[in-house]
Amino acid sequence: MKILAIESSCDETAAAVVENGRRVLSSVISSQADLHARTGGVVPEVAARQHLPAIIPVIEQALKEAAITLADVDAVAFSECPGLTGSLLVGAITAQFISEVENKPLIPVHHVAGHLYSVYLESEEELTFPRLILTVSGGHNELVLLKDHFDLKIIGASLDDSAGEAFDKGARLLGLGYPGGPALESAAKKGRKNPLFSLPRPMLNDPGLNMSFAGLKTALLYKLQKLEKTEISANLEDLAHEYQAAIVDVLSSKLRKAVEIYPHVREIHLVGGVSANQTLRQKLSAWAEEKNLFLRFPINLKYCTDNAAMIGAAAFFQWRKWPERYLSNRRITVKPTADLEQYYQLFF
Ligand code: KG4
Ligand code: ZN
Repeated sequence: MKILAIESSCDETAAAVVENGRRVLSSVISSQADLHARTGGVVPEVAARQHLPAIIPVIEQALKEAAITLADVDAVAFSECPGLTGSLLVGAITAQFISEVENKPLIPVHHVAGHLYSVYLESEEELTFPRLILTVSGGHNELVLLKDHFDLKIIGASLDDSAGEAFDKGARLLGLGYPGGPALESAAKKGRKNPLFSLPRPMLNDPGLNMSFAGLKTALLYKLQKLEKTEISANLEDLAHEYQAAIVDVLSSKLRKAVEIYPHVREIHLVGGVSANQTLRQKLSAWAEEKNLFLRFPINLKYCTDNAAMIGAAAFFQWRKWPERYLSNRRITVKPTADLEQYYQLFF
């Protein structure tokens, strides 16, 4: 089954053709990163407008690379929520229109479910249930217990900023540019642990699985305010190293705690933009090996950050679980919630 998938929830206009949830026939992304670098972050109004000229060429390119036409597509999927409203609407309206005109089923997908299914892309492995998924990016930061397809429970989440936001804001304070995650990671790689710049690990000793990252950014701000400009620039890499270490420590400690609370889970996934971070991957890999856990990330780094292929993967498994729901569906209905757990509980 070939699904044409569209993703436009934030600042990436993306389209992909995915076969049977795993085989990526094409995955095209038009990024607005350069545009938002000028403002140091995404301006929602600017992002929404920018999707308009990009969406049709991106879809055409995805079809071309997959060497198919719309007639060969079995269904159209799109990222329905959460995200920036104006941005989401561009993808939603385009998908609905193609579905209507071409008489193809329409499959709305929760954006975070797309991340949860990104591990299937290009993979031939049998993935097992239950699995614990740490999904961390700019827009979300959750620990998900996936008992079966779309049968899930959010067992922990950030109470304020996501880890991706923390990377972006920290990079901005350090003058490292946008997007912050990759910039901060590459500075941190050159830095060393320096006790002079130690930062807190928020909620590390809290017994629950919730997290918090807003205080870390403030702690960095206060630290920088106490330093001379020359001291900051001379120690930029050590500062980035410590800041990244604090985020990685919190994320890995919460995942470890989750496995202690749910010891029957043997399969762990790390997904979302922050799962591209090598320090986090290495730390979790060492722990998983020691504990005999199956740890998986998206096979290709390009499936960590926002892309449409992951929407095509989730859509396929939604189709397989609820075929009768999608067979005749070519219209979007308004959903009262963008909460991941409720999204799949309420409507199916
Ligand atoms: O999944 P994604 O593309 O968008 C959302 O759904 O939010 O994630 C983007 C986030 C940004 O905050 C970015 O700084 C972060 O992922 N990110 C990283 C890395 N690459 C992207 N964070 C840490 N290390 C990276 N290598
Ligand atoms: Zn995302």
